[in-house]
Amino acid sequence: MYKKKFKTIIVGLGNIGMLYDLKNKNKNYYYTHSKSIKFSRNYDLKAGVDISNQKRNLFKKKFKLPVFKDLNTALNKVDINLLVIATDENNHFKLLENIKNFKKIKYIILEKPGGKNYKELNSIYKICEKNNIKLFLNYFRMYDDYYSKKIKDIFFRKSIEVIANYKRGIRNNCSHIINLLLMFNNPKSLKDIKIATFIKHFNNKNKIINVCWNNTKVIFIDPDIKKLSLVKIQVFSDKKYISSNNDLSEFDLYEKNKSTLISNNSEFNFYKTIKNFNKEKYQKLFYDNFEKKIKYYKYYKKISLLTSYIIDKMLIKN
Ligand SMILES: NC(=O)c1ccc[n+]([C@@H]2O[C@H](COP(=O)([O-])OP(=O)(O)OC[C@H]3O[C@@H](n4cnc5c(N)ncnc54)[C@H](O)[C@@H]3O)[C@@H](O)[C@H]2O)c1
Repeated sequence: MYKKKFKTIIVGLGNIGMLYDLKNKNKNYYYTHSKSIKFSRNYDLKAGVDISNQKRNLFKKKFKLPVFKDLNTALNKVDINLLVIATDENNHFKLLENIKNFKKIKYIILEKPGGKNYKELNSIYKICEKNNIKLFLNYFRMYDDYYSKKIKDIFFRKSIEVIANYKRGIRNNCSHIINLLLMFNNPKSLKDIKIATFIKHFNNKNKIINVCWNNTKVIFIDPDIKKLSLVKIQVFSDKKYISSNNDLSEFDLYEKNKSTLISNNSEFNFYKTIKNFNKEKYQKLFYDNFEKKIKYYKYYKKISLLTSYIIDKMLIKN
C-alpha cells in the first residue's frame, strides 16, 4: 500500500482537466481531475500545466497554486510522484518521451484512449515500465467496484449479446463501452477478437459494426440522430437482461422473456444505488479508490490495451 500522499501535477486544464467543474456550480459534482484531486484526502495538488494562457489564469484564480506553460519546466520546479495527463491524445506520446529524466514520478494517470492508437499506447506503457512508472488509463468505470464486481457478476463467463449505441465517435465515446464490456469478460489474445461484419444499415446512415470475442457478441450502432452524447448498452444473457441509460450511469435489470422489472429484487435496488453514486462523485470516485487499485496494474493494462486494439480495428471498418 502506498503510504505517502500523492503529490500531483495535472497537465491539460481543459474540459476534463478543470473546466467541466467550473461550468457546473453543483458542489456535489466532481467531474474533473483538478477538483477531484483538490478535494481527495490522500492527494496534494501541487501545480497545473497548460499551453493556454487563459486556462493557466483560470487555474491560478481557482486553486491559488503554481501553474506552468510546459511540463518539463513544471517537473524541474515541483516535486511530485503522480502525473495526470489530460491533454488530447495527439500529444500523449510526446509528453511522455522525456519522462525518464524525472525519477520521482511513480504513477501516471493518462486520459483515455491513451495515445493516437494501439501501437502508440503500447510504446507509452513500455517507456513507463522502463522507468518504473505504473500508468493507468482514465476509464474510470474500470476501477469502480460497482461495475467490476456487481455488474460483472451477472455476466461473467456467460454468453452475452450486446446492443451498444454511441454518438460522438469511436475513440471518444464508444471506447467507454468497449472498455466496460471487456470487464465482463476479455479475450486471452488479440487473435480471439473478430470484427465480423460491417453493414451500412437502413438508409445508409446508421453505422453498424459487429465485434466478437469469447462468448461476447456486440453490435455497435452509431444511430443517425442528432444527440450530443450517447453511450448506452443492452446486454442479453440466457436468463437476464440489463439496459443502461444514455450515459452508462444507471442500469435496470430485467428477467429475460418476461420484460418485467424485478422491482423488489435486491439486485435491482443495488443498481439504483449505482445510479446515484456515480452521478454525484464521478471522477472523484476514481481518486478515492486509486490507491487500492494499484496492485491490479497488469489487469488494467491488459484491458486498456485491448480497448485500444478494438478501437483501431473498428475505425478501419468504419
Ligand atoms: N475519461 C473521460 O470521461 C473523458 C471525458 C472527457 C475527455 N476525456 C479525454 O481527455 C482528453 C482531453 O479532453 P478535453 O475535452 O478535456 O480536451 P480540451 O481540449 O478541453 O483540453 C485539453 C487541454 O490540454 C491543453 N494542452 C494541449 N497540449 C498541451 C501541452 N503540450 N502541454 C500542456 N497543455 C496542453 C490544451 O490547451 C487544453 O486546455 C482527451 O483525450 C479526451 O478523450 C476523457
